[in-house]
Amino acid sequence: MHREIAPGVYYVGVDDHHTHLFEGLWELPFGVSYNSYLVVDEKVALVECVKGAWDDEWLDNIREVVDPAEIDYIVLNHMEPDHTGALPRIAEIARDATLVYTPRAAPMQRAFYDVGLKERTVDDLEEISLGSKTLRFIHAQFLHWPETMFTYLVEDGVLFTCDAFGAFGALNGRLFDDEADLERVEAESRRYVSAIITSYLKFVQRGIKKVQDLGIDIRVIAPSHGPVYRKDPMWIVKKYLEWSSPELEKRVVIAYGSMYGFTQRTAMLLKRELEALGVSVTAHNLSYSEPSHVITDAVRAGVLVLGTPTYDAFPFPKVWAFANEIVGKRFPKRPIGLFGTYGWGGGGVKKLRKQLEDARYEILEPVVRVHGRLTDEEIGACRQLAREIAARLR
Ligand code: FEO
Repeated sequence: MHREIAPGVYYVGVDDHHTHLFEGLWELPFGVSYNSYLVVDEKVALVECVKGAWDDEWLDNIREVVDPAEIDYIVLNHMEPDHTGALPRIAEIARDATLVYTPRAAPMQRAFYDVGLKERTVDDLEEISLGSKTLRFIHAQFLHWPETMFTYLVEDGVLFTCDAFGAFGALNGRLFDDEADLERVEAESRRYVSAIITSYLKFVQRGIKKVQDLGIDIRVIAPSHGPVYRKDPMWIVKKYLEWSSPELEKRVVIAYGSMYGFTQRTAMLLKRELEALGVSVTAHNLSYSEPSHVITDAVRAGVLVLGTPTYDAFPFPKVWAFANEIVGKRFPKRPIGLFGTYGWGGGGVKKLRKQLEDARYEILEPVVRVHGRLTDEEIGACRQLAREIAARLR
């Protein structure tokens, strides 16, 4: 089904209720949308494609508006296959179309698909006239890949922002912000930003500043996932600014694994000690909390604490995987507390420490090591760590 979002501008995207894990990693309890748009003027531009398996429904949506063979430009803001998987299908039909993307996208297109259409690589702020409407391309590096750009429809004030300002959650026919459940949109946007864009938070700030500095009139923000913002486009911009702010929050997240309860007891002791010191704390058992929720909670916490049993002389796999997310997603630097439990060897917490120190995170002292049940001495070390964390937050 299509919907008009501005005069001559149509949403032709699709909902995905089948994919269980986005990027094979992040749960999608409410699905996800792949947004695609048609700008119909003397020339017809398609802005963004959809994920491959949704090409039939997408082509039906396009056919409700135009004959896909008559598309003149296929604008690819981003090459990731959730945006381009259906490109080969449309390229078979729109044989006279020209691909429009940044110079860095061109080799990716050839590597991924090589659809053999004409191509036009566009510089930052270059424009293409469609007749009475103009597309202006705004390079938006690392939002979310290096080749990414926004497309601005000048006359209608529509900014197609690709992954930026996107959200998890299928639309279910509620396309616009004034139709959507904004509480859910807020939660699913924040989880989306945290899971997908945490490595590039500074580029969110830069991208927003760049668009603000251009002084362009933005009446509609049309991302590639989640709702289209027509009532209050600045609502989502302000949220993204807040979620990507380098300023951390004065609270603690404890993320731990536990096989038989020893590590959990240590985690709960530390939580109680911190709360007694007036510190706000959330704790996640990584065997049960889905990682995108933990990342969302943890990415802006002023202090992180990881707790791990030793497992085959290494950190507990789920804790190690989370430590990899901290490092791989380049969580903003902040102090990290560590505690570990063991039965006959204590290598887990030692390896965690090395991994995090190698990535230049400061590890708070003391690193607490617990041999089975907590002894008075180990309880004392937990209290000392809690005092250190509280002091750092002040
Ligand atoms: Fe929606 Fe970076 O893909």
